[in-house]
Amino acid sequence: MSRDNDVPAFEGHKPQARRLAEKALEASRAGDGTTADELFAEAERLDPQAVADVLEEDLATARRGAAAQRTPTHSPDRPASSPEAAALGRNAAPGQGFHSWAARGSTGAPRTPPRHPTRLAIALEVNGQTHAITVDVRTTLLDALRDHLGLTGSKKGCALGQCGACTVLMDGKRVNACLTLAVMADSHPITTIEGLAEDGALHPVQQAFVEHDAFQCGYCTSGQIMSAVGLLTEGRGTSDAEIKEQMSGNLCRCGAYANIVDAIRAAKETV
Ligand code: FES
Ligand code: FES
Repeated sequence: MSRDNDVPAFEGHKPQARRLAEKALEASRAGDGTTADELFAEAERLDPQAVADVLEEDLATARRGAAAQRTPTHSPDRPASSPEAAALGRNAAPGQGFHSWAARGSTGAPRTPPRHPTRLAIALEVNGQTHAITVDVRTTLLDALRDHLGLTGSKKGCALGQCGACTVLMDGKRVNACLTLAVMADSHPITTIEGLAEDGALHPVQQAFVEHDAFQCGYCTSGQIMSAVGLLTEGRGTSDAEIKEQMSGNLCRCGAYANIVDAIRAAKETV
């Protein structure tokens, strides 16, 4: 007789990853973000899908809890003569009132604030490839590209939206990846400097930068090129003045501005 049914299915690291993710959620709720991040990282290393499952379940539980707390206005829990009802008038006593009710509930027990996920599973579509990753909701698109996907062509200059070194295209439009949350980019096509060349041939803007010597140290260059591709795709750059205006969000500490304008003017003929 076969004993197949007696043998539990091998689940790999899934159970351990789930336990770690659940502990991470507890740490997160307790305000210990460092421990939570470490536990999530370890859990994701073992089984990213298990972490995504735990987060989904936690979110569903939070939604059910929030829905259950929405007491209708005619609820017998909140009769017209209750302190809460009085509070909705103008003569609520101190310690009573709508805010007191909202904070403690009709039973007097403290309400549990709705929980929000600290990490989310997202799909980043970068240069034509979809990457399923789980990120802290505070992760910027720039950090997701560089640290999660290993695409280090986009540079972090200021992380404040002031230098343009992190420029990428999202839905074909220029964005500062340091000011864009990774969760905002979920399912929006992203193009980075790594995705411009096709079949081993440089994009015309890349080629023009090489031919016009439009860089020195190169740190700003990927952002300059992505911004230039964006402006030309938008049909801008009809004059040197407009090129300078449209590229004003991209700084170059080496001062290669004159050659950058030359390169974009030249590339405009071929894009
Ligand atoms: S790193 Fe994003 S604008 Fe400077
Ligand atoms: S080439 Fe060095 S910062 Fe622009």
